[in-house]
Amino acid sequence: MEKPEAPEFAAPPTSKKPLLRALRGESLAPPPIWLMRQAGRYLPEYRELRRASENFLEFCFSPDRAADATLQPVRRFGMDAAILFSDILVVPYALGRQVSFREGEGPVLEPLRRREEVSSLDQDAVLERLAPVYNAIRLVKPALPGSVALIGFAGAPWTVATYMVEGGSSRDFTAVKRWAFGDPEGFTELIDRLAEATIEHLSAQISAGVEAVQLFDSWAGVLPEHEFRRFVIAPTQRIVAALAARHPGLPIIGFPRGAGLLYRAYVTETKIGAVSLDQSVPCDIAHKTLQSLAPVQGNLDPLLLVLGGAPLAAAAARICAAFAGGPFIFNLGHGVLPETPVKHVAELIELVRRVS
Ligand code: CP3
Repeated sequence: MEKPEAPEFAAPPTSKKPLLRALRGESLAPPPIWLMRQAGRYLPEYRELRRASENFLEFCFSPDRAADATLQPVRRFGMDAAILFSDILVVPYALGRQVSFREGEGPVLEPLRRREEVSSLDQDAVLERLAPVYNAIRLVKPALPGSVALIGFAGAPWTVATYMVEGGSSRDFTAVKRWAFGDPEGFTELIDRLAEATIEHLSAQISAGVEAVQLFDSWAGVLPEHEFRRFVIAPTQRIVAALAARHPGLPIIGFPRGAGLLYRAYVTETKIGAVSLDQSVPCDIAHKTLQSLAPVQGNLDPLLLVLGGAPLAAAAARICAAFAGGPFIFNLGHGVLPETPVKHVAELIELVRRVS
């Protein structure tokens, strides 16, 4: 069968790193591979490093330790990319909100529920407060093997807003939906402030040396279409346009997890450079309707990586086969789970590297 012609993508053909080639629109066999949340508790060396810090934010803001955590999975497994070790919730912290992480409980924030509080967010201090993150990037960059790309990231405004308004993780998003649906103008002010902070944060990461960025919109899928367009697509479009103007050709990967039938509108309307697919997206449909628009990334169910063995091998092979005809980056449909056996990660990388 004839391969469809590779669509044109913005990044200039300057780097030979497989991840960046795929992000420029090249179809590679084997495809490049990295894993969302590839640094973390499933790694014994991460747990040891984590013990050296009193709390998680202090860990994120220690350039030496953050750089080390970034490099750990690459040293052990040889992925095609390192993702900066940090968190999406450093942005609300930098805007002046209280953020903490409690053992076994996840993030805890002081809830922000009123429009009047939005003006108290302190944009001016963002880059200064996040300076340790950029210093970690400067430490990681020269320590990476020559073929490994460095990815920076931020949470997308909607997803970060869910944590700020709910005061942490949520099951049903009642508080944030009440505000977003009931007072869209007021809520848009929060989204706009977050979009501005996100642009500055990503731009500073790029200036410090990251070669691609990913926008994590982990909770995009809980919104109805109308609000998805207003609180997911619109701010993402703004972030993409601002970064394209400041850093032409720098690839941006969008991850609107759970967007379902709205994935296509997300790609066409935001002009995002590449799109990460959660495990609910059917590969054949994504191949036909998305991969001709932008490189795709994904979408192995993280539980298969917990399981390993034949089910993992079969699913990885199906995904690689479905996307072999176009630009593709192997990844999970969401982050690595803490109970994942280390040897299954090595197994997966070996499987994908055997694809030809
Ligand atoms: O991918 C990587 O290896 C880079 C590091 C990274 C972390 N968080 C480190 C982390 C990245 C990219 C993130 C993104 C992130 N953080 C998202 C988007 C992706 C997703 O999973 O949906 C979200 C929603 C968060 C917010 C967050 N941070 C939560 C809800 C939690 C607690 C639950 C959990 O998974 O532990 C965190 C803590 C966190 N962020 C840890 C790590 C390694 C665990 C902290 C610990 O060591 O105890």
